[in-house]
Amino acid sequence: MVLKGITFFVLTLLFISCKPPAGDCEECEAEDEYTGKSLFMDQCLSCHGEDGKLGNSGAKDLSISKLTPDEIKEVLSEGKGAMPPALELLADPNHMDSVVQFVQSLRK
Ligand code: HEC
Repeated sequence: MVLKGITFFVLTLLFISCKPPAGDCEECEAEDEYTGKSLFMDQCLSCHGEDGKLGNSGAKDLSISKLTPDEIKEVLSEGKGAMPPALELLADPNHMDSVVQFVQSLRK
């Protein structure tokens, strides 16, 4: 019985100490930016390049693009010309938003 109690206590302690800190919004914004950037580097780099200007396979220069966030989402959802739809982003609305934000941040 005593052993059971100790196990429960230790598990509770572990559970509490593993929870991420709540409510620090500076941190979540930084994470959003990081997510958008790393997703872009992962999925868009080959055609658009790090700064959006590469233009591989006829890709548009994202630094001079004037699309609204909704229009960017549409291109990412449906693809356009030689650009395939970004399926991974469609599966996760948070990732979609982060990448849209990052695309806009490429504009000067
Ligand atoms: C296989 C190459 C390729 C990949 C990968 C790719 N794109 Fe594109 N992208 C293109 C091409 C080509 C166009 C131009 C489409 C057209 O207008 O005919 C384009 C256009 C766009 C546009 C529209 C720009 C404008 O002003 O019209 C956006 C925004 C965009 N891409 C974002 C992304 C993002 C974000 C990713 C990663 C999730 C991505 N692209 C991945 C090739 C690619």
